[in-house]
Amino acid sequence: MQNKAKFRKDYKKPNFIVSDIFLDVQLDPQKTVVTATSQYERVNPETTELRLDGHSFQFSSLKFNNQPFHSYQQDDSGLTLDLKGIDATKFSLEIVTILTPAANTSLQGLYQSGEGICTQCEAEGFRQITYMLDRPDVLARYTTKITADKQKYPYLLSNGNKVASGDLEDGRHWVEWQDPFPKPCYLFALVAGDFDVLQDSFTTKSGRNVALELFVDRGNLDRADWAMQSLKRAMKWDEERFGLEYDLDIYMIVAVDFFNMGAMENKGLNIFNSKFVLANPQTATDEDYIAIESVIAHEYFHNWTGNRITCRDWFQLSLKEGLTVFRDQEFTADLWSRAGKRIEDVRFLRANQFAEDASPMSHPIRPEKVIEMNNFYTLTVYEKGAEVIRMMHTLLGEELFQKGMQLYVAEQDGKAATCDDFVSAMQRASGIDLSQFRYWYSQSGTPELTVTDSYDEEQRRYTLTIAQLTPVTTDQMEKVNLHIPVKVALYDQQGHAVAAETVLSLTQNEQTFAFDDIATKPVPALLCDFSAPVKLQYAYSTKQMIHLLRYAENHFVRWDVAQMLFAQVLRHNVTQYHQGKEFEFPAEILSEFYQLIEHYQQESELTALILTLPKATEFAELFKTIDPDAISAVRDFMQQTLAEQLKPALLKAYNSINLNQYEVTAEHIALRAMRNLCLNYLAYTSVGNTLVQKHYEYANNMTDTLAALAAATKSQVPCAEVLLADFEAKWQHDGLVMDKWFALQATRPEADVLENVQKLMDHPSFNFNNPNRVRSLIGVFANQNLKAFHNLDGRGYRFLTDILIRLNESNPQVAARLIEPLIRFSRYDGQRQTLMKRALERLNQVENLSADLFEKIEKALGR
Ligand code: TRP
Ligand code: ZN
Repeated sequence: MQNKAKFRKDYKKPNFIVSDIFLDVQLDPQKTVVTATSQYERVNPETTELRLDGHSFQFSSLKFNNQPFHSYQQDDSGLTLDLKGIDATKFSLEIVTILTPAANTSLQGLYQSGEGICTQCEAEGFRQITYMLDRPDVLARYTTKITADKQKYPYLLSNGNKVASGDLEDGRHWVEWQDPFPKPCYLFALVAGDFDVLQDSFTTKSGRNVALELFVDRGNLDRADWAMQSLKRAMKWDEERFGLEYDLDIYMIVAVDFFNMGAMENKGLNIFNSKFVLANPQTATDEDYIAIESVIAHEYFHNWTGNRITCRDWFQLSLKEGLTVFRDQEFTADLWSRAGKRIEDVRFLRANQFAEDASPMSHPIRPEKVIEMNNFYTLTVYEKGAEVIRMMHTLLGEELFQKGMQLYVAEQDGKAATCDDFVSAMQRASGIDLSQFRYWYSQSGTPELTVTDSYDEEQRRYTLTIAQLTPVTTDQMEKVNLHIPVKVALYDQQGHAVAAETVLSLTQNEQTFAFDDIATKPVPALLCDFSAPVKLQYAYSTKQMIHLLRYAENHFVRWDVAQMLFAQVLRHNVTQYHQGKEFEFPAEILSEFYQLIEHYQQESELTALILTLPKATEFAELFKTIDPDAISAVRDFMQQTLAEQLKPALLKAYNSINLNQYEVTAEHIALRAMRNLCLNYLAYTSVGNTLVQKHYEYANNMTDTLAALAAATKSQVPCAEVLLADFEAKWQHDGLVMDKWFALQATRPEADVLENVQKLMDHPSFNFNNPNRVRSLIGVFANQNLKAFHNLDGRGYRFLTDILIRLNESNPQVAARLIEPLIRFSRYDGQRQTLMKRALERLNQVENLSADLFEKIEKALGR
């Protein structure tokens, strides 16, 4: 059944559609009986065969128009009905299946999470519940009747509106739900359990009242407020910025502990990883608060971009994901800080999506070939997909972009659309030609721009020459020129902008752009706001970079040149390392940073962002071949040098910030970030131990507590052990909070960190079946602990392989995400490559290798 590739070019309309489904679910963790009664219609009169998707359940019976039906063939991925000689223009099918949610560790389909039961159907989980045309272009109306034990499962939820309910004599009860909006089955959801409920309401701009309900595990009501407030902010913002209003009378969100991803936008009934719902000052950091708000918003925004307008096929995934990520990014930018949000997103994209695009998994935002769809919920489809939408926004401007959105919604509402439909609406609404721009959907890889310039004093003319090149990727040998918006500005020697920000449209292989009336040779600010997801090469001198760091009006530009300064120091010292020479840190950069800290009060958020030393994994992306030891050594040196050289300014800034009350406001968050940045460096100085201990002791919120704990473990100050033990004792009963502790343990600099990680898998708070635990301990070790994971003794690779062999059985979707660092072997030296390939070969021998792992291993080993 597995491992068969599907191609985008092979898309065909369905031969049959389903107009209505009635699901009767007799729920029990050990034995659930699902009776699905569906109304089918044949839309291709030529067909005499109906192929239905389905697996991983016990098939009990099938009726055709209420009569037992036996003319079918069952295999391990579905059912084929032979309809020859039967009137099959319109008919009903009644299918009975039997499931065991308690035994379903894959967390797809119907499964048990803690004491409750829930579903996850995207992308292809519905077929683990019953036989169905499991494809996003089959839209049906759902009615769902759930029956279960009333005491264990007082709440029985599904999509849409509650239309009836009742009690049975045997202690069970039932609820019936009806969703008036036709939807693909991946948006179906069902939840049963006992919860605390936070209730609220929202009045839409047209005056309709919407009931809002947030379901959390009992005892967690004191962590539910922020998520509810976030939902209301998202609903309001979508009305104001996009003119989009909610359409049902009820919106429900359920938080569950066992979840493969972040959250899921099921119509009217979102299901969330509890990590993206639960927050109070004691348990969540500032970062958690912002992340929760953005995921709540993301899922809400899907109601239009995803649900009302869905995808024709899964190759079009970026149609809903790229657009919805763009929308949630804009939401956060509007509510908090535009520059701060952009900086965080670009930092993330460069470190992670660029790496993916340089890996064996490289694919366009609209993939051409898929074996396991779950493998394509990627940073490329989501984050680069959002960049592609953002570039259209840059080219069109807000007004024309919104015009395009309106046309898109008007044309596609209620339908399953394609990426081309979206671009076409943008083009027609704006009158801007996007024909070359479309290649962003079909071309993979990170384009590289090389910029050179010249200045003609006599003519007072400055010219920029920009060349583009997209290096070949594993999936695509031929590359074309893209339409790339390059936002630039020019600064004179006094630091004044002599050319305000303008967007240059690069469409050719190489193009020259002239600026007239320029009195002296300027310093160019290039790719302002990261106007395109590309790498940019320009031979900046240190002086020029410092000039922009000082004078650029655009905060993003200032952050970006600081990144270049860090990169320059790193590169230089990696060379020194390889030549056995001493490390160096230019004094002019240090003194510039010193000044920044001295004046942090002008821009505390930006200062903290600028001075955050990139992680080793971020630094690694600067190199074609990564040397984990050199990078780690140089980064340690940079950390230590910055700490010592900036110490007086850091101490002064640290002591100047006093926040008594904890508030989640932009101002407080920025000040905490600045104070914790100082602490993080100061931990490496003589005052480190005392300062960190005091910070931990006086912390009245998780942001400060975790900052102290992180600083302590990373700098290895003597109090580290005591603080770790204190935190553990306090939080061991709370898995979500312990995830922070596990992640810190996994990135400890001690030589025995791997043994420690292995030991921690027996910790009472650890649970191998909970993806959050696996990711925070094992995932963080493999992805963030560059030095230890890539230790030349090969133990890191062997450890991960052992884990993957187990996960292949229990949860292949999580396994396939965890394997990523291992398939990227070509970025390392020969010795490490050999070890990594050996690990992959061993994995490849495993019996019953999942399609998820198979697809990635096959790509990596190049077969
Ligand atoms: N569509 C969801 C989102 O972007 C993510 C998602 C896709 C998902 N597949 C999933 C979530 C599987 C959980 C499990 O918000
Ligand atoms: Zn999404």
